[in-house]
Amino acid sequence: MGSDRRFDMRFDNHRVVITAAGRDFGRTLAIQLADLGAEIFLSARSLAAAECVRDEIRARGHQQVHAFACDLTDPSSIREFASDAALRTDRVDLLVNNGSRYLEGPDLLSASDADVVDTIASGATGTVLTVKNFLPLLLNSDKPDVVTMVSACGTPGHQRSDAHDAFYAAKSAQAGFAEILSKRLRPQGVRVISLYPPDFDNADPLSDQWENTPRGAKDSLTAQSLVECVLFAVAQPRDCFIKAFHFEQV
Ligand SMILES: NC(=O)c1ccc[n+]([C@@H]2O[C@H](COP(=O)([O-])OP(=O)(O)OC[C@H]3O[C@@H](n4cnc5c(N)ncnc54)[C@H](OP(=O)(O)O)[C@@H]3O)[C@@H](O)[C@H]2O)c1
Repeated sequence: MGSDRRFDMRFDNHRVVITAAGRDFGRTLAIQLADLGAEIFLSARSLAAAECVRDEIRARGHQQVHAFACDLTDPSSIREFASDAALRTDRVDLLVNNGSRYLEGPDLLSASDADVVDTIASGATGTVLTVKNFLPLLLNSDKPDVVTMVSACGTPGHQRSDAHDAFYAAKSAQAGFAEILSKRLRPQGVRVISLYPPDFDNADPLSDQWENTPRGAKDSLTAQSLVECVLFAVAQPRDCFIKAFHFEQV
């Protein structure tokens, strides 16, 4: 982050897993957390995409970054991701459930059955199974956090998005899962933190646009602000359990 950085804490002792980090917000978060010193275990649906981001991070001088393939619609792929990560670390401090397929279209009939299955599987089933498979590593941490990128579409009564009903279903499932998990994992010291953003602008963190994106009261929510929300929540002392971030729309 640049000179007007609002967040100065380092994350050198954090081992962070991020799903779907081959592009867009997952990649952004991986690059930003690596810049702050975290060891990154990033996955993408294709190993090539994950390795590409790994190499971008290494080129910035940060070597503690590992790339994995993980298809969130495939339980065996998620299991393999967690078991491969466990060969390189005995603990995970932060799991970011970022991956979830987007499906456009307010008409229920506009999507194929396969698209519906894929959308719900990647966001809903994929999130549940990722937490399930990484939970043993999270419980080895003395500061475990699970962050889930839900969406305003996961908020009851929300209707402003043009996303397909299956995307609403996936995000509502993530929200319900995070809600119960938050209570059930609290006694074990795990904070479950969820973000419910509306559409946001996702500038490339390696471009000039990252520093120059307008962030005024009349502008759309930015990935920069969402990264700062995640960092802020995770950096709090353990008594401060920020459960959810909700955002007013422009
Ligand atoms: N962007 C927004 O305005 C917005 C608003 C609210 C919430 N969110 C949520 O924030 C998160 C990140 O958003 P984004 O804008 O970066 O998302 P995005 O641009 O729609 O990208 C979706 C990501 O999910 C991955 N993905 C899709 N299906 C997958 C599967 N089966 N297995 C593994 N990965 C899969 C994609 O990988 P591939 O590259 O392989 O396709 C891609 O990395 C998502 O959960 C999204 O729903 C986004």
